Amino acid sequence: MPKYAIRGGRRLTGSVKINGRKNAALPLIAATLLAEGTSVLENVPRIRDVEIYREMLDILGVQTEYDPVEHRLTVNPEGLRPAPIPHHLAGAIRASYYLLGVQLGLFGRAEVPLPGGDKIGQRPVDQHIKALTALGAEVWMERGVLKARADRLRGTSIYFDLVSVGATIHTMLVAVRAEGTTVLHNAAREPHVVDVANFLNACGAQIHGAGTDTIRIRGGRFLEGRRHCVIPDDIEAATFMLAGAITWGDVRVENVIPLHLGPVIAKLREAGVEVEENGDSVRVTVKRRPRGIPVTTLPYPGFPTDAQSQMTAFLSLAEGESHVTETLYEDRFRYVPDLVRMGARIRVEGRTAWIQGVERLTGVPVEATDIRAGAALVLAGLAAEGVTIVSGIEHVERGYDDLPGRLNQLGAEIERID
Ligand code: EPU
Repeated sequence: MPKYAIRGGRRLTGSVKINGRKNAALPLIAATLLAEGTSVLENVPRIRDVEIYREMLDILGVQTEYDPVEHRLTVNPEGLRPAPIPHHLAGAIRASYYLLGVQLGLFGRAEVPLPGGDKIGQRPVDQHIKALTALGAEVWMERGVLKARADRLRGTSIYFDLVSVGATIHTMLVAVRAEGTTVLHNAAREPHVVDVANFLNACGAQIHGAGTDTIRIRGGRFLEGRRHCVIPDDIEAATFMLAGAITWGDVRVENVIPLHLGPVIAKLREAGVEVEENGDSVRVTVKRRPRGIPVTTLPYPGFPTDAQSQMTAFLSLAEGESHVTETLYEDRFRYVPDLVRMGARIRVEGRTAWIQGVERLTGVPVEATDIRAGAALVLAGLAAEGVTIVSGIEHVERGYDDLPGRLNQLGAEIERID
């Protein structure tokens, strides 16, 4: 299995262009299936999760073409027909659940193996099932496969018991095919919810309120394929910003929407990092040792759970005490024992990691257990003395396009070895 070998201690400097957002691109690809004719998605990241999505679409008879240089994905859903998706594909990623709702809306029946993705907690799908059921579908599980059928989908009012990005987007995708109006209460407000709504509206849908906690969808409109540019990946940007910060560097992330990075920028400033916003770029500079801070993950516009691990790695070297509380996933500190083996002083109690900043970390062999845990260990390796070997990098490559190459352009020394 391939690994990253990181020789730490290099100060990162320079600029890096941020790619399109993974968690927007995947539901956008699913959304293209609802429109007649070809859609073109620009700024689609070159990552394994997109490849897996294309493999699933291939099974459903959908033609896709990806230009990895231009980052352009063309989807022609003309041949789309319901078909069973193998477990090894649907189970490899989280976003496979969107294909359940899309097929249900188009064909009145659908089946998709239970979604997989990062092992960061239980990740139930009860809110998805609740919403689809409220729209008139019968949803059940059979041998690890989620199945749904509906003679008729009818718009209704749905209250989510918790804020779920996946359930909000999934329900939007089904509601555009339902008769009448659907109102989602306690909806997720993440920018990628807005991005999917914008694309569907450009295709002809009527979705109002995306970006607030109440979304109103008038269903049954004819949708026609469109061209759309995926919004920038805030988590990739946060990862590079923290890579700059942990190495006391001077890094500019380009092609970003600084507003979407608000909580990350605020927390870095609180830790004493200089952050300069300039149009569509953000520059991070560290001149003296950052100080410890408290961080709590929350749905947008709170601090993103997907940047929690990278932030913890950064704080492990900050002066004084920090505490990081993870409110979304019960098992998202699995990388901490590896940081501790590198010399960090971190104690996890329930949902909180208590950090006593140390002056140095030392490179040892470590293992990525999910995408962001992997990113955190890479960051720790950049700052550590000696060589850090990160295994389990298939997780990292699910969500980052050429992370080592792009860090190396900033002055890092990372080699991908077999
Ligand atoms: N939840 C439920 N029931 C549900 C749905 C969610 O209890 O039916 C819980 C989850 O267990 C979690 C919380 O609600 O505790 C939030 O989950 P959400 O549904 O918002 O997450 P998701 O849709 O499964 C997406 C991203 C994750 C990201 C979260 C939160 C995709 C493919 N995945 O997951 O991305 O952490 O939203 O922003 O969009 C990552 O990129 O590293 C990643 C894990």
